[in-house]
Parts: sequence; C-alpha cells; structure tokens
Amino acid sequence: MNPLIEVDRIGKSYGSVVALREVSTVVNAGEVTCVLGDNGAGKSTLIKILAGVHQHDTGRLRLDGQDVRFASPREALDRGIATVHQDLAVVPLMSVWRNFFLGSEPTVGAGPLRRLDRRTGRETARRAIADMGIDLRDVEQPVGTLSGGERQCVAIARAVHFGAKVLILDEPTAALGVKQSGVVLRYLAQARDRGLGVVLITHNPHHAYPVGNRFLVLTRGASLGSFEKADITLAELTRQMAGGEELEALEHELRGVSG
Ligand SMILES: Nc1ncnc2c1ncn2[C@@H]1O[C@H](COP(=O)(O)OP(=O)(O)O)[C@@H](O)[C@H]1O
Ligand SMILES: [Mg+2]
Repeated sequence: MNPLIEVDRIGKSYGSVVALREVSTVVNAGEVTCVLGDNGAGKSTLIKILAGVHQHDTGRLRLDGQDVRFASPREALDRGIATVHQDLAVVPLMSVWRNFFLGSEPTVGAGPLRRLDRRTGRETARRAIADMGIDLRDVEQPVGTLSGGERQCVAIARAVHFGAKVLILDEPTAALGVKQSGVVLRYLAQARDRGLGVVLITHNPHHAYPVGNRFLVLTRGASLGSFEKADITLAELTRQMAGGEELEALEHELRGVSG
C-alpha cells in the first residue's frame, strides 16, 4: 500500500536562503508523523509545501503514489489535506458553529429564498464536536470565548467532519499549558484513530513521542533522519533536538568556566 504522502528528497530555497535540503519522510493513514526542529529549522516551510502555500524546487511530493504539486491551499484542501495553522483562521466574535462551517453553512430554500439553515448548522456542529468527545457547553457562544486548546479541538473536529485525509497541525501546543496540551494531543490521537494521516509540528519531544509513529528531525534545513518509533528513544530524540554534540560542548565549556 502506498503511503498517503511521500516527501522524497524535497528541497526549497528562498532566494539565497536554503530552507530545506533533501528532506524525506512519509505520512501513513492512521499514523502520526512528527516534524521536530528548532526555530528556523524549516518546519513551517515543509508544511507550507504540503498545504499548497509554497512549491518545492527539487525532489518529489507524492499523494497516494501520484506526483503532485499544489498551486494553492485550495487545491491541497480539495485533495483532502487540511491544515490548522498556529494563528487559526477564526472570526472571534462569530459563534462556534458558524466558525465550524466558515463559508460552507447548510442552507434551506432555493434562489432568492435561499437562507442559512441555522437549526441544522447548529445541530451538525454540536454533534460533530460531541462525537470527538469534546465537551462544549454551547455552540452559540462566540469562538473568542474558547480557550486556545478548545479552539484547536474545534479545528480538529472540523477537519474530521469535512472528510480530510491528512491533518496538519503547526505547533498546536506551543502556547498551551501542560493540561490543555494533553487535551489537544488526545483529540489529535482520535483523528489518527479514525484513519487520518496526521502531521504534528512541534519543538517539544515530550509532546511528540507519546503520539508519534515517526519523527522527522530538521536542523537548519537538513534532515537528521526520519525515524520510526521503534528505532529511537525519547532520550535520543531529545538529544537530537537539543543539538546533541553542541550541547555537550557547551556543557564542557560552562563547567570549565565555573570550575
Ligand atoms: N518567505 C520567506 N522568505 C525568505 N526566507 C524565509 C521565508 N520563510 C522562511 N524563511 C527562512 O527559511 C528558514 C526556515 O524557516 P521556517 O520554515 O519558518 O522554519 P521553522 O518553522 O522551523 O521555524 C529560516 O531561515 C527562515 O528565515
Ligand atoms: Mg514555524
């Protein structure tokens, strides 16, 4: 069986800045691929290529075994790739259920009599959110009243409801506390268990390791490898993230200064 997505030696430059160099990994249905790396490592560049925001210069991108190159985010979405950006495209004063649909609300009637079907919309959003086990008191409340974690959860429920095959989350836990991070990771795992291929971008190996099936570690645009879980421990992943040898050298240096 083909992977859902195959990233094959992809490279991307912005003018003279090489943002990605020969990066490879896969995303399988029902699995989580984690992309880890420090600031500037190239994480966002990689997901922007998957999401149709940018195009790669070299290498290949395959979806269900076919070479693809998305001309726009709309095209990626039409092929089943849903991306939840860190800043979340929500309208804070609009209700949760309207944000859930954002432009694809159900309607009744035809022609000039066509109008928003509020009752169906509210009920569909409520059920989809509840189906994910998310406990929201009221889908009429403005989305701006939700916590950051709850907003991420609604965005995940939305992608599942609209039939996404691949769900990409860019640093969903970056601004969250420990407890809320746990909640978001739990819903991410639910999307995985429903058969979606999930791409989780994070710089926290402790968030990645429990939910991840494979780990792509980037450093200054280069890949340190795409590891299956069985082939890497949390300790080793943490060491790679921290820049391994660099950190050890720093430790030596600092010890030298104090002692
Ligand atoms: N639109 C852009 N134009 C020029 N350089 C960019 C652009 N976007 C990112 N870069 C550069 O590419 C590198 C990788 O950035 P990015 O993919 O955002 O990393 P990350 O998400 O891991 O922090 C950085 O050196 C960054 O400055
Ligand atoms: Mg980024």
